[in-house]
Amino acid sequence: MMRRAAILGTGSALPARRVSNAELAQTVDTSDEWIVERTGIRFRHIAGPDETTATLATAAAQQALAAAGVEASAIDLIVLATATPDQTFPSSATKVQAALGIDDCIAFDVQAVCSGFLYAVSVAESMIRAGSANHALVIGSETFSRILDWEDRNTCVLFGDGAGAIVLGATEEDRGILSTKLHADGRHNELLYVDGGPSTTGTVGKLRMKGREVFRHAVVNLANVLGESLGAAGLEPGDIDWLVPHQANARILDATARKLDLDPAKVVVTVDQHANTSAASVPLALDLAVRDGRIKRGDIVVLEAMGGGFTWGAAVVRY
Ligand code: UT7
Repeated sequence: MMRRAAILGTGSALPARRVSNAELAQTVDTSDEWIVERTGIRFRHIAGPDETTATLATAAAQQALAAAGVEASAIDLIVLATATPDQTFPSSATKVQAALGIDDCIAFDVQAVCSGFLYAVSVAESMIRAGSANHALVIGSETFSRILDWEDRNTCVLFGDGAGAIVLGATEEDRGILSTKLHADGRHNELLYVDGGPSTTGTVGKLRMKGREVFRHAVVNLANVLGESLGAAGLEPGDIDWLVPHQANARILDATARKLDLDPAKVVVTVDQHANTSAASVPLALDLAVRDGRIKRGDIVVLEAMGGGFTWGAAVVRY
C-alpha cells in the first residue's frame, strides 16, 4: 500500500477589522461599483497593530489541530507559506512553532507568493511520503496590507489579510493528496513584484502589479495546471466535486470554471468576503467549505493558485 498524506483537519483566522469598499472609497479614488464589477470583492480584513502573519498563522493552526484531534506535540513538520513574514529572519514558521509550544520539529517558510500554499502542500506531502514526517502543519498566512501602496488604487483595493491551515497526517489509505503539480516562470518578475527587499533597497517595499497582464496569464496557466494535476491523479474535470481556487478575482474564477466546463456551483468563492489574501486564500476557502458542510469526506477537491514570479500550481485531493 502506498504511503500518502491525508488532510486530517483545517482551520483559519481573519483579523478583527473588516473593511468595505465604501470605507476604502473615502480615502482612495475608487467606488464600490468599480471594485465589485471588476473583481467581485466587497470586503477585506485588515490586520491591526497586534495582528501579524505569525499570530494569524498560530490561530489558524490551533483551529486545524483541534479539528484534526491532533496534539501540537505530535507535529514534526511546519511549512508556512508567506510573502509577508514577521521578520526577514527567522522564519515565521519558527514563531508559530514557539507559540504552539512545540520543542522540536522541522519548521521553515516557503515563498511562492499567491501559489505559496500549493508549494507548501507539495513539499510537506513529499516529506510525509518519504517518511521524514508523520504529522505536518501546512499554513498560508499573509498581511499584505503592510506591503500595499495605499495611494495606488490599481492594487490597494484588491488585497486582504488572513491565514488558513491544514494538518496533514501519514496514511496507508487511498485518500489524501493524490497529485501535485508546480510551475514557475521567472521571466515575468516585472508584472507582479515588491519594489524593495533586504538585499536591494534594504526596505520592505510596496506591491506593484500590471493587473491586466497577470489576469491573462492566470487564466491560461491555471487551466493547464488543472489538466495536468487531474491527469496525474487519473481523473477528469467531470470527477471534481469542489474546486478551491486562489481568490484573486471573481472573473478569473468564472473563466477557469468555464475552461473546465465545471458547474460554477462547485467553485468555492470567498473573494467577495476576503479579497486576495495571497498564500492564505486557498486554505481559508478550504476551511470555510469544510466547516459549512459543503466539502465532505471522500470528495474530490482540487486546489489551485497562480501568483508573482510567476508561480502556479494545483493539487488533487480525496478529502
Ligand atoms: O494574486 C496574484 C494574481 N493576481 C491576479 O490574478 C490579478 C489579476 N488582475 C485582475 O484581477 C484585474 O486585471 C484587475 C482587477 C487588477 C484590473 O481589472 P481590469 O479589468 O483588468 O482593469 P484595467 O487594469 O484594465 O483598468 C481599467 C481602468 C483603468 O482606467 P483607464 O486607464 O482605462 O482609464 C484604471 O485606471 O480602471 C481604472 N482603475 C480603477 N478605477 C476605480 C483601476 N483600479 C481602479 C479602482 N477604482 N480601484
